[in-house]
Amino acid sequence: MPELRLLVASDAEKLRRLLRTCWLDTYKGILPDSVIQTAITVWQSKESLLRGLQNPQAFYSGCFEDGKLVGMVSAGKIDEGTVKIFQLYVLPSHQRRGIGSRLMDAAIRRFRGAGKVVLEVEDGNQKGISFYSKYGFTYEGRTVVKIGGEEIPCLLGELRL
Ligand SMILES: CC(C)(COP(=O)(O)OP(=O)(O)OC[C@H]1O[C@@H](n2cnc3c(N)ncnc32)[C@H](O)[C@@H]1OP(=O)(O)O)[C@@H](O)C(=O)NCCC(=O)NCCS
Repeated sequence: MPELRLLVASDAEKLRRLLRTCWLDTYKGILPDSVIQTAITVWQSKESLLRGLQNPQAFYSGCFEDGKLVGMVSAGKIDEGTVKIFQLYVLPSHQRRGIGSRLMDAAIRRFRGAGKVVLEVEDGNQKGISFYSKYGFTYEGRTVVKIGGEEIPCLLGELRL
């Protein structure tokens, strides 16, 4: 059974590889190639990931199987009663085995006491939209997220705790 634990600075290279694989698999055809390239080379550079992992306000948890990082979640409080899920990724080879749900459970447990969880999911990301619906999120509206000069339509997901 894959194990969950907090991610730390020394996991940065494993995290970089996981995000690269997941971004190429998830966003091809949904996001412009230029955005995917910027994500992989800039936002997910080892240095950027290290900054995130070392942020004491942020929660990063990973799922490991035989020492390999196969899934991750990051989340943080955006106001007193609200937690935001920033990232949730499971390797394509490991999806539909309950790992995404376990990572979400861990993030919510960490912020016990919060009243709601929010997130943004790209309009065309059917896997993500279906997963969050199954988890109990409802979609309360839409927004446009600016990524690397592009405007990406997203749904606003919300889960009352
Ligand atoms: C979304 C994601 C994290 C789900 O992780 P996962 O480990 O596969 O999810 P789980 O196995 O816990 O799935 C729980 C339930 O969600 C629903 N679900 C998950 N993936 C689904 C899919 N591809 N299509 C339809 N429903 C899906 C199912 O109801 C599933 O239960 P079931 O397998 O018993 O039918 C994973 O697909 C992923 O990494 N996708 C790419 C990145 C992404 O879209 N992240 C979220 C947006 S930022």
